[in-house]
Amino acid sequence: MIHTRVIVVKNPDEMGKAAADLFETAIAAKPACVIGLATGSTPLPLYRELIAREKAGKIDFSRVRSANLDEYKGLAPDHPQSYRKFMQENLFDHISIKPENTIVPLGLAEDIPAMCQAYEDQIEDWGGVDLQLLGIGHDGHIGFNEPEDTFPGMTHEVKLTDMTIDANKRFFDSIDDVPKAAVTMGIGTIMAAKKIVMVVTGADKKEILRKTFWGPVDPQVPSSILQFHPDVTLICDEAAYPF
Ligand code: PGA
Repeated sequence: MIHTRVIVVKNPDEMGKAAADLFETAIAAKPACVIGLATGSTPLPLYRELIAREKAGKIDFSRVRSANLDEYKGLAPDHPQSYRKFMQENLFDHISIKPENTIVPLGLAEDIPAMCQAYEDQIEDWGGVDLQLLGIGHDGHIGFNEPEDTFPGMTHEVKLTDMTIDANKRFFDSIDDVPKAAVTMGIGTIMAAKKIVMVVTGADKKEILRKTFWGPVDPQVPSSILQFHPDVTLICDEAAYPF
């Protein structure tokens, strides 16, 4: 581990508060800042805390821009399991962020490479991501960058691994309904963020968390690349902390 700051908290609610502190600070310093957002169960306590803090007048999202990490291929934005829908329901519909200032890759795009390039261009036009939120998959995926022989660069289409499909089937009626492909920011997109905060909770993430920050940097553990980022804060609960 080279640069990573590690904050160990008692439980997921405390993780939400500690991560919200970073977002509050970033938005106070730069009201039109660009935040990178993630889906999954882990960020939910953070999103609840961000909603509460805006209601309490501590954060103002009205000028913030946001770019999400990923989206399932083939799901419409209003599909109940799409990540766009997840973001609307769990965050965007409850804060003052402007709809036009939120972007999520379009899983239904006919020309996926062109959509990916436009996604990269939009982030660049905004001046890059100031603070990127990440969860982690049990196989070390960040966004939907699954274990591979090399680290993928920019936003692109990926096939999901059986492990990821299995982990995500809890949100669908059956495993056959889980999309087999997705569009994700690449490792290069993620590493270009000025600051990164990774949130990890639960004992089932302990082993992959150890490999991520205390093992070799290896594209078979995509998250391990974060050891080379100069400004990463890891916020994990006691159950996930490997030591
Ligand atoms: P989770 O997902 O927060 O629901 O565990 C994390 C991920 O797959 O990146």
